Amino acid sequence: MKPALVVGNWKMHGTRSEAVKLATGVLEASRRNLSVEVVLAPPFTALAAVSAALRCGAVRLAAQNLHWETEGAFTGEISVSMLRDLDCRYVIVGHSERRRLFGESDAIVAKKVGAALSAGLRPILCVGETLGERRRGRTNGVIARQLRVALKGLSKSAIEKLTFAYEPVWAIGTGKNATPEQIAAVHRFVRELLRRRAGLSARACRILYGGSVRPDNAAELAAQPEVDGVLVGGASLKVGAFASIVRSFGATAV
Ligand code: 13P
Repeated sequence: MKPALVVGNWKMHGTRSEAVKLATGVLEASRRNLSVEVVLAPPFTALAAVSAALRCGAVRLAAQNLHWETEGAFTGEISVSMLRDLDCRYVIVGHSERRRLFGESDAIVAKKVGAALSAGLRPILCVGETLGERRRGRTNGVIARQLRVALKGLSKSAIEKLTFAYEPVWAIGTGKNATPEQIAAVHRFVRELLRRRAGLSARACRILYGGSVRPDNAAELAAQPEVDGVLVGGASLKVGAFASIVRSFGATAV
């Protein structure tokens, strides 16, 4: 059984000293929840400092993005070897903010997934529909397309190394989380796609939910058998709130 996975995506928040303070607080609070895998994704500028702060604990490090080339003339970009050098274990790929605000297509997401896997980094692949797409009944179609392109050419053993995050765009930063029923339906759909695409058993990959996860709704999410963990934005910026979410998942094993 894999432990539940709780990831804090700090997005573009925090100086180095703020990041170290937050990471140290999370590390301290997580010591009591050894049944949960806790991962922090600070901004690039704080990765080195947070990596050092986490050295002696079980909390792991993720990057929020990567470039798919190994090196070269790509001003402003960060390669997988740079992330490995900082002891990153995971990398978030295809976050809806990257897709919407920075023009990341499904094809770019696929290149990033491939680059991460080839360097031994574990991608957390984000998928999710907009409100308009949901209203038009396009949720499954959108997620199927995002997954089909992102997983193109990957072997079963490569796909097994992925974690998936269902993040409906309309739930991110809005205070309006998806209902447990909506989440369970999409997670089941993703598992079915993985079974058909790669013959994966239902529990081969963890599927997280993300979008307005807070201390007051985390327990309900943790109680859903389909939810293997959460990807937390705003509520991961406060030690107390994030620790409370981690605790909610402490009693569940996936
Ligand atoms: P919020 O938790 O702030 O809604 O953000 C979710 C998210 O985008 C995590 O990656």
